[in-house]
Amino acid sequence: MNNQKTVLITGASAGIGRALAREFASHGYNLVLAARRKERLEVLQGSLTSDYHVRVDIYPVDLLQEDAPDRIMDFADREGISVDILINNAGMGYAGLFADMDWNSIKSILDLYIIATTRMTYLFLRRMEEKNHGTIVNIASTLAFAPTAGEDVYAASKAYILSFTQALYEETKHTGVSVLTICPGMTRTEFFDQAGYSLNNFNLAIPEQFAAFAYKKIIEKKPLSIHRLFNQAVALFARLSTRATARRAFAAACRTDSKD
Ligand SMILES: NC(=O)c1ccc[n+]([C@@H]2O[C@H](COP(=O)([O-])OP(=O)(O)OC[C@H]3O[C@@H](n4cnc5c(N)ncnc54)[C@H](OP(=O)(O)O)[C@@H]3O)[C@@H](O)[C@H]2O)c1
Repeated sequence: MNNQKTVLITGASAGIGRALAREFASHGYNLVLAARRKERLEVLQGSLTSDYHVRVDIYPVDLLQEDAPDRIMDFADREGISVDILINNAGMGYAGLFADMDWNSIKSILDLYIIATTRMTYLFLRRMEEKNHGTIVNIASTLAFAPTAGEDVYAASKAYILSFTQALYEETKHTGVSVLTICPGMTRTEFFDQAGYSLNNFNLAIPEQFAAFAYKKIIEKKPLSIHRLFNQAVALFARLSTRATARRAFAAACRTDSKD
């Protein structure tokens, strides 16, 4: 059991974030949980506190607001919380042809996955470097490995997270701070309801399986982890194929037309 260490998880009110919160609490970590839905965070806070006797702070926040990362850090400072592990997990579903999407949805994807993730990483990395201690985990996706028609902005945002985070791993690898990427594949969460997918025929991972896997990889400080053998094979295929082959295969998997 680990005592006194604190993990901050964004997007903790549902799916993968909620499962990660339970996984870390079960290993004795204190938690700071951030997401927009306060009631859900309160329910989770109550259940984790009583099940695992850890300290759970909640911070309801909309990460689409530009100052949200700064406010999260101010909250931690005010409460005297030193964050040992930050997991940038908050996410929203997206599917459709680019020209058919409304601009606000596109901008939200960019703001959440690129701006908020980068700002959270910037603020907490600097703080962790002062102490020469800490871990930042950015959640990417199997779709980070190739351009994906029908998920264009989402996949490109995840490619940004993968590239950005791997570069930071190199910058920090000889210090006490680690910056890691973990890629889920398709996992049964509310994410797909939002994106409007029907998933009855898919063999999806469940969030608890992903969380157990992620916990192990974070403790090992593995720079890049991909959940499940199938997704590892998909990523390997993308890396070994030509760009055109990977592009066509990813488009076909997402069941949209890819134009040459
Ligand atoms: N599920 C998959 O198959 C899959 C595959 C690959 C990668 N991923 C990645 O895994 C991560 C978690 O996704 P999930 O499947 O667990 O999705 P989910 O069940 O829809 O949960 C998303 C979480 O993000 C929070 N969130 C969304 N917008 C937010 C905002 N503006 N401000 C603060 N919090 C916000 C949501 O909480 P509120 O609504 O309460 O704010 C919720 O807690 C995402 O980064 C996603 O891209 C998922």
